[in-house]
Amino acid sequence: MPTEVVTMDKIVSLCKRRGFVFQSSEIYGGLGNSYDYGHYGVLLKNNVRNQWWRAMLQERDDVVALDSAIIQHPRTWEASGHLERFNDPLVDCRACELRFRADQLEQAQCGRKPSKHPGETADCDLTPAREFNLMFETTIGPVKDQGATVYLRPETAQGIFLNFKNYLQFSRKKPPFGIAQIGKSFRNEITPGNFVFRTREFEQMEMEFFVPPAEGERWYERWKQTRRDWYVELGIRPDHLRLRPHEPDELSHYARAAADVEYLFPIGWQELEGIANRGDFDLTRHAEYSGQKLEYVDTASGERYVPHVVEPAAGVDRAMLAFIVDAYDEDEIEGETRTVLRLHPQLAPIKAAVLPLVRRDGQPELARELQLQLRDRFQIEYDESGAIGRRYRRQDEIGTPWAVTVDHQSLDDRTVTVRDRDSLAQERIAIDQLGDELEQRLRRPWRSPKLAS
Ligand code: GLY
Repeated sequence: MPTEVVTMDKIVSLCKRRGFVFQSSEIYGGLGNSYDYGHYGVLLKNNVRNQWWRAMLQERDDVVALDSAIIQHPRTWEASGHLERFNDPLVDCRACELRFRADQLEQAQCGRKPSKHPGETADCDLTPAREFNLMFETTIGPVKDQGATVYLRPETAQGIFLNFKNYLQFSRKKPPFGIAQIGKSFRNEITPGNFVFRTREFEQMEMEFFVPPAEGERWYERWKQTRRDWYVELGIRPDHLRLRPHEPDELSHYARAAADVEYLFPIGWQELEGIANRGDFDLTRHAEYSGQKLEYVDTASGERYVPHVVEPAAGVDRAMLAFIVDAYDEDEIEGETRTVLRLHPQLAPIKAAVLPLVRRDGQPELARELQLQLRDRFQIEYDESGAIGRRYRRQDEIGTPWAVTVDHQSLDDRTVTVRDRDSLAQERIAIDQLGDELEQRLRRPWRSPKLAS
């Protein structure tokens, strides 16, 4: 395996320098573990989402889409088990007034003596462990005391179960079929961290796949593989991915079996996505709490059953971080170190940069014409400021796969050079064919050039 040059510090620094991710509320000193996505972060996240929708909806005919509310009826969380069981065990230290996860004391640092763990020094004064619910609570209505307590959803999945009946009625689907949604979820984690990897406000891409009970196991196996392959198709190196089954004591309260797709971050193997066999837990509980029948009835045979559910649940922010980490590379050009994001072209925030070599002789005008021609089809960036080498470096750092340069010859023969981010090869291409050429390049299968080295 080639030497890894990437570190989390380099990723955090590049994300800030190039406008992918900023610390939230920075002018007020920042809010811990809260981040804002800048221009390129927005574009990259959109591409991640679009690829997920593409894999879930466009390339299949057994999954339909949903966008449910963040605030649901509070009974939802009684039925789902989150009110009772979505807890972390916490201890407080009366000496340093910090709070720790009782099951992670070995990894935590004592507030007074950071070289020690909580409970390790004579001064530490830890309370017994207490269960702390991870859901954020708020109130509906203008008067806090008289309003109804509601929760920000801790997973998007429940909105899907609440709509199961609607989907049976309108979608003309029968099991096996899935309902997919992307949206924000919220968890009041006591130990968030590692940049955007674990935050209290995060975005999920979840799909609940409803199957006849006898097919649960088979679909669980299938979805594990399908979801692992999605990351590989989008360029993640296979030797940096693994599927890890959960131990019985790790399983969520709703799961019969679960496995994580994990990525080898600089901080070690971490979960990107969980695939769970939720059995009939959720539909059965919502039927019980709502008094509604949540079952599938086959009108031809009269057969009725509560479907079992297989759920692939991915994190948008984590996926984005993994794509950036896996793409990060450094090489040397003309004696200088170059930082480059070798992103899959489909994920790259900008597909092509249009660069006039100089700001005179009609080159900016032709480059602007080209920009207008291309931006109908791709996310393009025009840049005429600074030396061409510096402009290339800027695009390399945000992962732009192709830099299109308008030069002196372009005005004579209406050709441009197209520089490839990874190979650095330059090819002359006719302006009239450039759109189709880029389209073809975008559609080609792609593998990380880091694999070849
Ligand atoms: N719905 C599974 C999860 O949020 O982890």
